[in-house]
Amino acid sequence: MKEILLADFDEIPERGRKIFSVEGVQVGIFRIDDQIYAWRNTCPHQGGPVCQGKLMRAVEERLDDQHRSLGVHFIEGSLNIICPWHGYEFDVRTGRYAGAADLHLIPQPHQVREGKIYVSIDD
Ligand code: FES
Repeated sequence: MKEILLADFDEIPERGRKIFSVEGVQVGIFRIDDQIYAWRNTCPHQGGPVCQGKLMRAVEERLDDQHRSLGVHFIEGSLNIICPWHGYEFDVRTGRYAGAADLHLIPQPHQVREGKIYVSIDD
């Protein structure tokens, strides 16, 4: 593996993202609550450019004790990225897809040191 300097931390705005092409690999860098998350820009469903999708809170349907719907609500503090091809939603912090345990964003190894973001890529 080799480590490549991608960007200054401050280049990525809070709640923003930037897509980089690194040695032929597209990587989405997200900054959420001053943490950096890095995912391959390849959707695990059918390969769409998932990191270019819209960011929005997750939605849940609440039920009463008799399982009647109380309506849908945004989940406070959540943040999903929505793949632009078919709309699958992934938690931008964990990469998890709520609909199937085996679908997960592909993590890109990375580090933040002294205000710089580095990724590690296979040689
Ligand atoms: S390719 Fe991303 S949801 Fe289908």
